[in-house]
Amino acid sequence: MKKRKLGHSDLEITPIGLGTWGIGGPPFWPDRDENESVQTIEAALDNGINLIDTAPVYGFGRSEEIVGKAIRGKREKVIIATKCGLRWKNETLKGLYNNLKPGSICEEAESSLARIGTDYIDLYQVHWPDPGTSIEETMVALYLLKKQGKIREIGVSNFDKNLLESAMKIAPVISLQPKYNMLERDIESSTLPFCIDNNLGLLAYSPLASGILSGKYDKDTKFDGWRGKGNFGIFRKETFLPAMETVHKLKEYTVTRGISMTHLAIRWVMDQPGVTCALVGANTPAQIEDVINASNLALSSADRDELSEILDNREQGKGDDNG
Ligand SMILES: NC(=O)c1ccc[n+]([C@@H]2O[C@H](COP(=O)([O-])OP(=O)(O)OC[C@H]3O[C@@H](n4cnc5c(N)ncnc54)[C@H](OP(=O)(O)O)[C@@H]3O)[C@@H](O)[C@H]2O)c1
Repeated sequence: MKKRKLGHSDLEITPIGLGTWGIGGPPFWPDRDENESVQTIEAALDNGINLIDTAPVYGFGRSEEIVGKAIRGKREKVIIATKCGLRWKNETLKGLYNNLKPGSICEEAESSLARIGTDYIDLYQVHWPDPGTSIEETMVALYLLKKQGKIREIGVSNFDKNLLESAMKIAPVISLQPKYNMLERDIESSTLPFCIDNNLGLLAYSPLASGILSGKYDKDTKFDGWRGKGNFGIFRKETFLPAMETVHKLKEYTVTRGISMTHLAIRWVMDQPGVTCALVGANTPAQIEDVINASNLALSSADRDELSEILDNREQGKGDDNG
């Protein structure tokens, strides 16, 4: 896979990155075998993926620890992206809260460095905005971490255009990590064009719409974990059924062409103007072996026009949140 420059930084990343939210396990996802998770990350690196995205909150530290185990001895070959700003009072979903105060950010950065077993983080991202802290305070704290060499670059996630603009006035931001896939395209109206105009890198999260664009589920699937609660993102009941109708049409499209839904969904994201990388949540070595083949799928402009017919005017249900 040919690497792409992340915004105006020196970081060069593969257009498919590995997301390790699922690997963290509970409270969002089922528990997973740790050896298999380590092997999944190793398989990603062996197959040429060089970007691993994690966060303290993924499994309350577990994801970062597993990433640390998997990259031991190969640190300099890997671009590690982690995050700050989502903390927890106790290890439950209800225990989560936002905190982007400078003291909290410093504490989180030290904990992430220790869990990953490294002395620098390549890309340190604000996970979610914190309405209780001014963006100025937050960005100054991140800039100090960069000056100290603890982080190489600053990124943000789940920011809209206005917040991005404010953040960039205080410190150099090189990338945005938003939700972006064939079914969830809110960023296209203003945030994505802003990133293109300002040469910001873009790490698209949930390229498979947290699984439904793999084509392995249908409208009657009963999910467990956060997806089963039916109150978040595309899994809310008003958005889920219209999404599954589109998935059905996409399935027909892939069957007639003999291609895989998973490859189609990932390739579509990778090819969108302004996208640097699709951050795929592969949870097993077999999923990695499959996902990597998305880079061999070529979509012609005629293919993309046909896909636009299916996607552009689809029924979406009532407004969506930002991931
Ligand atoms: N910044 C943020 O706020 C934020 C939010 C969400 C995600 N993210 C990042 O983005 C990454 C990916 O997001 P995501 O986990 O929501 O979504 P995703 O990549 O859209 O979907 C992940 C799901 O797809 C399935 N899958 C993966 N590879 C597959 C394959 N080859 N064949 C069939 N199914 C496959 C997995 O199913 P199984 O469950 O069956 O294994 C998994 O549950 C996360 O790990 C995280 O790094 C960031």
